[in-house]
Amino acid sequence: MKDPEEIGFDAEFLLNEAKRAGTFAYVPYSLFPVGAAILFEDGSVISGCNVENSSYGLSICAERNAMTTAVREGRLKPVAIAIAGGSKGKICPPCGACRQFLSEFNSDMSVVLEEDGRPVIYRLSDLLPLQFKFPKIGETKNDE
Ligand code: THU
Repeated sequence: MKDPEEIGFDAEFLLNEAKRAGTFAYVPYSLFPVGAAILFEDGSVISGCNVENSSYGLSICAERNAMTTAVREGRLKPVAIAIAGGSKGKICPPCGACRQFLSEFNSDMSVVLEEDGRPVIYRLSDLLPLQFKFPKIGETKNDE
């Protein structure tokens, strides 16, 4: 865990952006809104919310919604993500699928979560040790 003072971005601001995105969540089934805000090196922020579906499995998490929007904007190098959801002030850690999805783009990115009403910062690689990585061409058995 990193001290917010040690890092070069405003964790509270990013968390507020996540909360703002969460107000747009489409959650008629779970009634559990989540918002995510991703910060990029140039200071830009792209956010997303969870969007559910009658066919439950098609629902998308806030984090992946934000990251896919970022890719569409040509932003592939996130430096931090803030996630907020559920009851006010309570921690909302990213699900396993989102950890893997985000680590594709920067496994060292900071993850800002709200704990007891204040931002706490983790490193994604600590939340997802030993992430799956597709072997580079030439490293797979079939290429031998
Ligand atoms: N959810 C997210 O948006 N992000 C997560 O990392 C965990 C779960 C959403 C999915 C679903 O719409 C609701 O929260 C309840 O699981």
